[in-house]
Amino acid sequence: MFEFLNKKSEAPLVCAMFNYKNNPMAGFHIPGHYRGQGVLSDFRKLVGDDVLKIDTTDEFDNLGTLHPASGAIKEAQEVAAKCWGAKRTFFVTGGSTVANLALAFSMTSPNDELLIGRNCHRSVLTGLIISGAKVNWLIPKKLNDWAIFGNIEPNDVEDKLKNNRNIKLVWITNPTYEGVISDIEAIAKICKKYKAALIVDEAHGSLWNFSAQLPNCALNYGADAVVHSLHKTGGSMTQSSMLHLSKNSCFDENKVEHALKLLHTTSPSLLLLTSLDAARAHLSSQEGKQQLQNAIDNAKYFRQEAKKIKGLSVLEGNIDITKLFIKINNLTGLQLEYILEHDYNIEVESASDEGVLLLSNLGNSREDFVYLINCLKDISSKKYDITQKNVKIMPLEDPEIVMNLREAYFAPKEYISKEQAIGRISSEVIALCPPGISILLPGEIIKKEHLPYLFNYDKLEVIKE
Ligand SMILES: Cc1ncc(COP(=O)(O)O)c(C=O)c1O
Repeated sequence: MFEFLNKKSEAPLVCAMFNYKNNPMAGFHIPGHYRGQGVLSDFRKLVGDDVLKIDTTDEFDNLGTLHPASGAIKEAQEVAAKCWGAKRTFFVTGGSTVANLALAFSMTSPNDELLIGRNCHRSVLTGLIISGAKVNWLIPKKLNDWAIFGNIEPNDVEDKLKNNRNIKLVWITNPTYEGVISDIEAIAKICKKYKAALIVDEAHGSLWNFSAQLPNCALNYGADAVVHSLHKTGGSMTQSSMLHLSKNSCFDENKVEHALKLLHTTSPSLLLLTSLDAARAHLSSQEGKQQLQNAIDNAKYFRQEAKKIKGLSVLEGNIDITKLFIKINNLTGLQLEYILEHDYNIEVESASDEGVLLLSNLGNSREDFVYLINCLKDISSKKYDITQKNVKIMPLEDPEIVMNLREAYFAPKEYISKEQAIGRISSEVIALCPPGISILLPGEIIKKEHLPYLFNYDKLEVIKE
């Protein structure tokens, strides 16, 4: 019945979906297009018959339910938990955004004090608007030459926890978007010493479990919860993520599950859930391991060849080597992105003030990297005369928060021009995605230093005086 799998237990949900697709029943339920019969025929051509045949939600077709987990969905989550060495793994169809919201919603309460990396994703902050918990900032090292955040120093975590014994939870993003690694082993030990729980947002590290040449997953260091955006680099479909609780997690799994249930859609896509099962099975398979090895080798090849190009630098150090943050002398990141896209037909992951981020992915070939290197050689040999507005992407300012996030979010507000807003208190979360790091938060004083980042905004939402 299965094309590549030897037994059902290798990928329970993939197998259940094969079964469902191959044994159609007469259906009188949601989704109303009924296996693709009721859609625009050009749309069917676009996505293919099979995608529509398996577009269904839970509770139907004996495939199981997500909340509470049952059937093949439950089995797939259990296999994933085993694969990552977790006590419990939850599949999430709203990305790591929903995973972070659920952790904040279930594990923090109004006025709890938390320690959070300044470079956290905006979903963490949105979660705290829901819960009402209070933020203490942990400022990562600033890599000023690259205009990005670097690692978080364990000593800084210890100082904060020593000086504020009310802090109950530490929340770290690791790796950073550009791949910089913090010493999670040391940070986890410090958290244990001060009886603070540890969440690691490992959204960009979902491949780490599958190669000894990549950093160690925080679950192995005893982080209480870890979030993985499998869809970012792990090969699952866009919006699908996993939330793991470690073997000795101090978090109550029922509370996390309850929060996920409240925050999730009540119609989770089986296609997305199945893609999580498939991605985990693929990364565990010989073929997947080989693809990951190729991605690592391609990244090494790129780093080696890049050294030979005059004026080109690649971010090195304690880093996930598959993330290639590069810059070229005399070009900003946005300019380099523009040239790569328009002159060379290359789409990058993102561009920032100084550089451009490229990923060495499971799906890339060596030829892709040979082409990229040749293009970069060409670019470095040319002189460009590009004028561009003074826009900034990566906010490195230390936020001055004067009100609780939740109170500020729900306070009476008004909209005024951004120039008039200097000195006022923001009542909204503003963050460019990617990387989703906040430029302004509810309760934060707006300063003139913010203005270059707010190039998309004429008016800002501030608290009424
Ligand atoms: C560190 C980090 N956490 C969480 C998220 C949210 O992930 P998702 O896009 O899967 O909702 C992102 C997205 O970019 C991220 O960079």
